[in-house]
This record gives sequence, structure tokens and C-alpha cells, in this order.
Amino acid sequence: MSQLLHLFQKTRAKTESLCEPLEIEDYIPQPVDFASPPKWHLSHSTWFFEEMILKKFLPDYQIFNPHFGFLFNSYYQTLGERAIRTERGTITRPTVAEVYEYRKYVDQSIEKLLQNNSTPDLEELIILGINHEQQHQELLITDLKHTFSYNPIYPVYKENFNLTAQKNEDQGWLKVPEGIYQIGFEGEGFHFDNEKGRHKVFLHDFEISKSLVTNAEFLEFMEAGGYEKFEYWLDEGWSWVTENQIKSPLYWKKIEEKWYSYTLEGLKPIEPTHLLTHVSFYEAQAFATWKGCRLPTEFEWEVAADQLKWGKRWEWTYSAYLPYPKFQIAEGAVGEYNGKFMVSQMVLRGASTATSKGHERKTYRNFFHPKYRWQITGIRLAK
Ligand SMILES: [Fe+2]
Repeated sequence: MSQLLHLFQKTRAKTESLCEPLEIEDYIPQPVDFASPPKWHLSHSTWFFEEMILKKFLPDYQIFNPHFGFLFNSYYQTLGERAIRTERGTITRPTVAEVYEYRKYVDQSIEKLLQNNSTPDLEELIILGINHEQQHQELLITDLKHTFSYNPIYPVYKENFNLTAQKNEDQGWLKVPEGIYQIGFEGEGFHFDNEKGRHKVFLHDFEISKSLVTNAEFLEFMEAGGYEKFEYWLDEGWSWVTENQIKSPLYWKKIEEKWYSYTLEGLKPIEPTHLLTHVSFYEAQAFATWKGCRLPTEFEWEVAADQLKWGKRWEWTYSAYLPYPKFQIAEGAVGEYNGKFMVSQMVLRGASTATSKGHERKTYRNFFHPKYRWQITGIRLAK
């Protein structure tokens, strides 16, 4: 149990350490509906422990503030009414100081609970809360980058904190023979409900690239008119390009004929050998078509994963986010964690440089709507 307590404390401290470079003004703004302000992430991850664990397991637990459930519930219908997602940036109260007090109060209550009590049910929920908080650590930093990117003076979050300056460590193609393969999580240890239910799939033989697409390769696509020719794009992707006048990956800026991109270290020149990032599924798919290749399915990716170097980018797959054959939705609020999002989203595999250490798994199924590109996404080709 002390090991779990240690992991809990370490995770909570990590979230706060991500906020160390912030000034008080950075905690509030929310320029877009899909990204949340740091203050909201700090509160919501805390609310999760209070709502899912303390209220149920700690006798005589007094909730910190009766308004917080309404303010910091994200999407759990089971748990009642909640504030509108798009208006998180208007919530100036509670103050940041009060939010840190809330974190401290909940941390102390969890510590008390873990010292006196231990059941498998409780441990399982604490581990879920830790994994949930790790997901929010990644969102906190990628959401913050997105908010900072609106600022014409390109703020520096932290020196030597460039999450996107990596190169390929491997090259060539990996050949995988056709056959029946097992997909899904197996064994002990934490995993989300969406990756559970090991099952067989048949795969035809395929090849998957051992490297990820670089900035140089993507620049070639751009110079070949990639964003101007409908023939590379899915219909929905082409509408997205034309309606939003997309001409480059997210955060790229052309200044005097030279490409730069906004990073957490400020505006930096595009380095051709670095791995491409901040592309949507639509862009990934169009690039693959232009190359005469395709994106791997999530099953191909998982089968090949042990022989690939991964973990720098969330890699778009050409698989819709659907339930596995044995998928079951859990009862109560935790059942709302994954299952209800299984529509209109594509699966991303791997992990990114913003993913918390130890959170990644080869069976992990991340998912986003195909238009989104503010996560540290990338492209791996298959054929
Ligand atoms: Fe959440």
C-alpha cells in the first residue's frame, strides 16, 4: 500500500511541477472549446479523487466546496449537472490559490484513507485516478502550448523544454507475414476498459515503416502542392482544408520564405530532420496517399510494436475507435470514461514526448476526432 501512496504523491506532485513555470495569468484563458486552462486541469483531476473515491470510501468525508462538483465535472452525466465545457476560461473564481488548497485537502484525505484502509476496489480506483491524472498532465501541457500559440510574442514556457525536437532512431520497412494475431491487453497491471478483451484478428501481410515522417518529407508534400490538390484528400479532409484554409501543420509560420514553428521554447526554425508533429488525421491520410502508401490499422500497429521504436508521437492509424468484441461498459460513472466516445474518432497508437513516464503501453488506444492536431501527433506509413 505504501507503494501506491508513493505513486499517488509522485503523480500529484508532477502535475504541480508542470505548473511551476506559470504566472498567475496563465492559469485561466481558454481560447478554444477543445483545450482547457491549467486551473481547470488542476481542479478536475482533484475532483476525480474526491468524487470517485473520497465520497465513497472515507467515512465522514466533508467535501471541500459544494460548488466544485458542478464546476469541475468534465462529462459524467451520472454525476449530474455541470458547467459548460466551452466556458472554463471564464471561471476566475475559485482563485488559483484556492485550487491549490483544494488539491492539498484532497491529497491529505487520500493519504489518510490509504493509511487506514485497503481493499482491492479502493486500490483499483486510486490507480484509475492516477492514470486519469497522468492523462491530464499531457493535456495540461498540450493545451497550454495551444493557448500560448495565440500570443503574438510567442511566450517561452521553459528553456530546454522542447517536446518536439526528436529524430528517427531507425529506418527501413518491417515486413509482417499474414496470419491470425492476438490483439488487446493481456496479463496483470493497469489498463483501460477499451483495450481489454484479448481477441483474434486476421491480417494480410503488410509492411510498416520503422521511421516516422520527418519535417523534410512533409515539406516535400507541401512543395508538391499537397494542400492544393483535392485528389490526395478524403472528402471530409478536403472540406476541412478549404474551409479553414489550412496550408501547413499546426503552429507553423512562414516568415520571409522560411518556416518556423511555435514550440514551448518559443518560435524556432523548422528542423528538416526532426519528426513531423501537430498534424490531423486528414493530413496524415493525405500525405500517405501522396506517398503511394497508407496509414497502418491499429491492429497492424500493435502486432508490429515490439519491433518498432515508438513513444515520440501519437501515431494516427486508419482505424475507427470502436469497441473490441468483448467490450463491456462498467456500471456507474466510471463506465462513462471511454465507451461513450466510440463514434466519429480515429485511434492513435504509441505515446508522445508529452505522455507521462510509465503511462504508455503498446495496447493503449488513444482517440481523437480526425480534425484535431494540438496533441503531439505524427505519421507512420504502411503498405
Ligand atoms: Fe478527465
